[in-house]
Amino acid sequence: MIGRLNHVAIAVPDLASASAQYRQTLGATLSKPMNLPEHGVTVVFVELPGTKIELISPLGEGSPIARFLARNPAGGVHHICFEVPDIGAAAAVLAAKGARILGDGRPKIGAHGNPVLFLHPKDFSGTLIELEQVPDQPTRN
Ligand code: CO
Repeated sequence: MIGRLNHVAIAVPDLASASAQYRQTLGATLSKPMNLPEHGVTVVFVELPGTKIELISPLGEGSPIARFLARNPAGGVHHICFEVPDIGAAAAVLAAKGARILGDGRPKIGAHGNPVLFLHPKDFSGTLIELEQVPDQPTRN
């Protein structure tokens, strides 16, 4: 069911210093910081061949990653995101197999403008998993 690894999201307490590490120490290509107020985060994309890392830091009150950073003050891997061709079909299969979808169980529009859902980390080896509907793009790699 799952396809390409779309991104790994790393929650960071200090976006500027995390960006500098990826740019200067690891020699990566980074986007400019982008505020996503509807998601409560500021994000920097670390572009990699075929996938990306998203450095995310809290934006505004009640950011969904504030609690994560309170428990992990140095930052840490927050979630990984796999692409699926049809999120509604994926949700139906997952529900039938007993996997817990977070929230009301229905896909929402994610940070990239595509429908996403999140799966309970306790069902997947302690890892929060995001599924993002991305239409098949066979020429992309
Ligand atoms: Co994500």
